[in-house]
Amino acid sequence: MTSMIRHAAPSHVEALATLAALTFPLACPPGHTPENIADHIRQVLSAERFLEYVTSEDFDLSVASDDDRLMGYTLADYRASNDPDVRSHLSNAGAYAELSKLYVHPDFHGAGIAQGLRDKALADMALRKMDTAWLTVNQLNDRANSFYEKSGFTVIAEKKYRVGNVVDDDYLRVRKLNRG
Ligand SMILES: CC(C)(COP(=O)(O)OP(=O)(O)OC[C@H]1O[C@@H](n2cnc3c(N)ncnc32)[C@H](O)[C@@H]1OP(=O)(O)O)[C@@H](O)C(=O)NCCC(=O)NCCS
Repeated sequence: MTSMIRHAAPSHVEALATLAALTFPLACPPGHTPENIADHIRQVLSAERFLEYVTSEDFDLSVASDDDRLMGYTLADYRASNDPDVRSHLSNAGAYAELSKLYVHPDFHGAGIAQGLRDKALADMALRKMDTAWLTVNQLNDRANSFYEKSGFTVIAEKKYRVGNVVDDDYLRVRKLNRG
């Protein structure tokens, strides 16, 4: 299998929205209704939102692809967090950015695509002189927690995360970066 990881382009946004709609439910714990999930996808993962992520300086959006399909994507978010939990737990973390999304098509789980996307996002953060990467992940998402643990993201707190009208129990995880 050959794969390429690079920054996303405007031409990717429709395929990104399709991939995001397929993969977002995989990260949701029991308790979410199809309507709730669909609402989140409409608000956060539409082609219009992906175009914003591609074109705004606030983000680095990268994709993994083979010759004719997207295999996964990742989004680094450099906007200052307004979240009081994040601000207090990261008050001594230097400059920090969020590894906001990391999703791989199920056909490619366990194939090293997630590692490549993770490394691209962290390299982009280091180039932007970030000291620390942070993320939230649902406590019941065993596969993702295992992946982040082996990727050096340690749990520093429990965190509530709202998806529509459901409040999930997440972990706040952080990892130090080597600046580029
Ligand atoms: C999270 C994700 C990006 C990780 O990519 P991946 O290719 O599946 O990751 P890997 O296979 O390298 O690592 C997962 C690890 O969890 C292990 N694992 C799999 N199922 C598991 C389970 N139910 N419980 C605990 N560990 C599990 C795997 O064996 C592997 O560990 P290993 O390398 O020691 O064998 C991918 O699974 C994904 O896109 N999931 C759906 C979307 C998602 O949850 N995204 C994260 C949102 S925060």
